[in-house]
Amino acid sequence: MPLPEEQLIKAAAEARENAIAPYSKFRVGAALESVSGTVFRGCNVENASFGLTMCAERVAIFKALSEGANEFSALAVIADTDRLTPPCGACRQVIWEFCGDIPVTMANLQGKSRTVMMSEILPNAFDGSFLE
Ligand code: THU
Repeated sequence: MPLPEEQLIKAAAEARENAIAPYSKFRVGAALESVSGTVFRGCNVENASFGLTMCAERVAIFKALSEGANEFSALAVIADTDRLTPPCGACRQVIWEFCGDIPVTMANLQGKSRTVMMSEILPNAFDGSFLE
């Protein structure tokens, strides 16, 4: 049974507390649920060499993969913005690669949320099928 959406959002909000964002001050949390029900959390981790920054979504995905999880059912992303923060372009490509067409819930700290499918926010995606 997949977790209720509110619980995945709560896990993302908790992960956001650990965000390391001294440069942008833009704190992001993510929570990725595997098909077996494990939730992997991530936060953004910035670096003084800005390009080395890692987004919350990719931290959650790489944590999960490194722990042996490789099938996922849902992702939640939270930031403190009125306009709900979507995954950046780089993250969309990585989410597509490892999670496929999963639902992505975007949420803010005011309790607003919206769920979209990956195929809506990354239409006509490039992936490994082109390399066959
Ligand atoms: N960020 C994320 O963690 N996820 C997103 O989807 C958007 C951007 C982070 C990266 C950087 O630490 C900060 O937000 C500002 O771009």
